[in-house]
Amino acid sequence: MPIREERVAGLDALGAATRLLHRARLADAETGIWEADDLQWWWRTPRPSDTIEQSFWFDDEGPVAAAIFTDWGRCWGFDPLVLPDASPHQRSAVWSRGLDLIDARQLPCVEVLARDDDTDTRLRLTTAGFVATGERSGTTWMQPGARPAVPALPDGFRLVDRAHAEDRPHPMRPRNGNDVEGRLRQCSLYDPELDVGIVAPNGDSAGYALFWNDTVTGVGLLEPMRVEDAYQRRGLARALLAVGLDRLAARGATRLKVGYATDAARDLYVGAGFRITTTDQTYRRPE
Ligand SMILES: CC(C)(COP(=O)(O)OP(=O)(O)OC[C@H]1O[C@@H](n2cnc3c(N)ncnc32)[C@H](O)[C@@H]1OP(=O)(O)O)[C@@H](O)C(=O)NCCC(=O)NCCS
Repeated sequence: MPIREERVAGLDALGAATRLLHRARLADAETGIWEADDLQWWWRTPRPSDTIEQSFWFDDEGPVAAAIFTDWGRCWGFDPLVLPDASPHQRSAVWSRGLDLIDARQLPCVEVLARDDDTDTRLRLTTAGFVATGERSGTTWMQPGARPAVPALPDGFRLVDRAHAEDRPHPMRPRNGNDVEGRLRQCSLYDPELDVGIVAPNGDSAGYALFWNDTVTGVGLLEPMRVEDAYQRRGLARALLAVGLDRLAARGATRLKVGYATDAARDLYVGAGFRITTTDQTYRRPE
């Protein structure tokens, strides 16, 4: 099938990346690192990379590969996305386009997340001068039937979601900016009833978690999860997790997924019944 390369920016790029990651997940239940929901989560705040023309490759059925750049502020992220059966030629085309863009834009700091079992990507990284940072993370999965029961909240705490927000400001605003709710609502996979939080007895936002129900792939994803420092170690994350997984199961999600980047998060998810399937490491290209 003939392949053509196109440049796409902004919400159109997010749409193309969503179609590509849907295709990849339908082709292989555990390929890659990201779900389409992950890239939609990255859309939550305006970034200089919104206007970059991202490189996509299409066949007659839609996108087959992409070289995605994201400006994270402290550093740029490069995500080479391919279908699981991509040819070595297609993988090389994505990498060479990515490395060209790094040079052309003189990006001072670029990071790539790679699975430990992805020898092809790790070889390409070291060949291109990237070095392992030691920043480790991982992916965990669970069947909906294995999800934990929903516990009672501590006295005085109550659950809210963005479909019934009682005019409260979105709890992610302090970390993600005032546009966060508007940007999330631009995402095709965002569901305000899966955007849950816990309100403390004094009215503070004690924590929040956002779940994504991807009806194309059947995957239910958690990203992000946070309990504010003053409210940690009271079981609030465990409660948010159980509530969100319950809602995903009720919507028909057939597999549940969450990634972790800290020991506390890993212990939280594994303690709830998630199983670690792959581990990853961040690679960085020194300036
Ligand atoms: C990780 C986080 C969500 C946990 O929230 P929490 O409400 O304090 O967690 P809970 O009280 O519900 O704890 C549930 C389990 O998680 C694990 N856990 C939570 N905090 C932990 C910590 N500091 N160290 C180790 N394990 C921890 C434990 O297994 C705990 O069970 P236990 O209390 O029986 O030991 C919170 O620390 C946080 O928001 N951290 C910053 C953001 C973050 O890392 N989010 C996760 C991104 S994937």
